[in-house]
Amino acid sequence: MAPLGKNVKVLVVGAGAMGSGIAQVAARAGHTVYLYDGCAEAITAGRAAIEKDLRFLVAKGRLGETEAAATLARVVPVTTLSEARDAALAIEAIVENLDVKRKLFAELESTLGADAIIASNTSSLSINAMAAGLARPGRLAGLHFFNPAPRMALVEVVSGLTTDRDVAETLYATARAWGKMPVHATSTPGFIVNRVARPYYAEALRVLAEHEAEPATLDAILREGCGFAMGPFELMDLIGHDVNFAVTKSVFDAYFGDRRFAPSPFQQELVAAGRLGRKTGRGIFEYGELAAKPVP
Ligand code: NAI
Repeated sequence: MAPLGKNVKVLVVGAGAMGSGIAQVAARAGHTVYLYDGCAEAITAGRAAIEKDLRFLVAKGRLGETEAAATLARVVPVTTLSEARDAALAIEAIVENLDVKRKLFAELESTLGADAIIASNTSSLSINAMAAGLARPGRLAGLHFFNPAPRMALVEVVSGLTTDRDVAETLYATARAWGKMPVHATSTPGFIVNRVARPYYAEALRVLAEHEAEPATLDAILREGCGFAMGPFELMDLIGHDVNFAVTKSVFDAYFGDRRFAPSPFQQELVAAGRLGRKTGRGIFEYGELAAKPVP
């Protein structure tokens, strides 16, 4: 199956951590990318985050200035979905909530062309449950990028029971053309990576609750001693505790309360306190001018 051509316009809905990163990937691959968010400030912030990262890549000598400018110029902010009606691929990266996503998909179906593909960057929600509300469920699949999307190679292409095979294969080929390492997955709770990764976070949070080790110590052990790219606490701070907690609850519920996937009350309290991680300046660690240091 051929990838989508560079002339295909892509709509990214949700301009937060993931949406802005995904928009950057698609624009870098040559597509015009409409960037939409329900919150106008998020669109501005998302485009600014893309610009900042492109500048960083130029400074590091990993990207030419002309290509960086052309990439940014291809990211077109839009404040209504109808401005993006000629997009042939929409990638949703909004809040991890089934009802909110379903409402968006209904809007997308009434706005986009009949053949447009609708992809969700959901970390854990059922593709079948999302597709069930669509007039054309075959056009919906998961396209699950990892954080930060411009750096992480893996993309899970998630098929539900009704996803057209051509849709999944087109997404697979397109992700590959975008320089990613796609894998096919089926719509099971947490798909592949988030199923395997849940106990990694959960056990680390249990160690913390039992005062067995300081977060920075455990992170260093796993990073430097075991070869993980990041320790569990710094990774949760990067993902965002709101997102991580929502994903854990979703996987736990989907496995009928299997204790292996039990959410952590401590993470629930972090979310309640607004300590969401890097994005709010404080999570398990503090972020600011000082180097990240553990919160007492
Ligand atoms: P985020 O909180 O950084 O951004 C979400 C954005 O969606 C916000 O700007 C918000 O204003 C916007 N939004 C919310 N509801 C909307 C609606 N109805 N219409 C339009 N815009 C709306 O969240 P993040 O981290 O980017 O996550 C987005 C999705 O990606 C979630 O489904 C999450 O599970 C998934 N994901 C997150 C990863 C992470 O490490 N944070 C990794 C992979 C997937």
